[in-house]
Amino acid sequence: MVKIALSKGRLLQQVLPLLADVGIEAREDPLVSRKLILGTNHGDIQLVVIRATDVPVYVQFGAADMGVVGKDVLMEHGGDGLAELLDMRISRCRMMVAGHAGTDGKSIEPGTRRLRVATKYVKVAQRYFASRGVQADIIKLYGSMELAPLVGLADRIVDLVETGGTLRANKLVELELIADISCRLIANVASMRVRHDKILELAGKLRSVVPDD
Ligand code: PRP
Repeated sequence: MVKIALSKGRLLQQVLPLLADVGIEAREDPLVSRKLILGTNHGDIQLVVIRATDVPVYVQFGAADMGVVGKDVLMEHGGDGLAELLDMRISRCRMMVAGHAGTDGKSIEPGTRRLRVATKYVKVAQRYFASRGVQADIIKLYGSMELAPLVGLADRIVDLVETGGTLRANKLVELELIADISCRLIANVASMRVRHDKILELAGKLRSVVPDD
């Protein structure tokens, strides 16, 4: 049996058609069903539908053999026990440092105190600012990061930007690119050894149907 962990939400709507393109279809619609483990038209493939941040955890510990998840989630989780097999080139966006802009378009500096950064990507932000030699206090939030600079909670945010509409609507600007983000196919490294042929066959089929650059 190969279990594939899928991220709930927007990503799921883009992943299901790609799975269908390689002939994998759930027996019940994952967008509607409340079941957490879904059988497919392949007796040896099951889907588990879970929160995005849990996908690398299930795959790392081998509770799922494969997973489909955003690079942002992978960067925050770390790569232990995981192999990244394929850039699925869907759900593309950028992980950015953003904040208020001064009248000259450059960022407003916070003065003498340490930079305060609000984000749900705490580890990514810590690594990024440390690598640039910037002393920053990272504040963990779970959503609506753009609010933090508006109410003085933080000087900067680290967040995903897709169209830039949310930043513009809140008079914030993109300041620094941390990484280009897209959805990735991952596998448990031990499963890769035990179910090598099946996993690589599936990755190969998906490679042939992902969108072109
Ligand atoms: C994401 C992200 C930004 C927004 C960016 O939020 O955190 O807020 O989308 O998209 P845009 O550049 O096209 O405006 P999401 O809607 O997933 O909700 P969240 O704030 O709860 O993370």
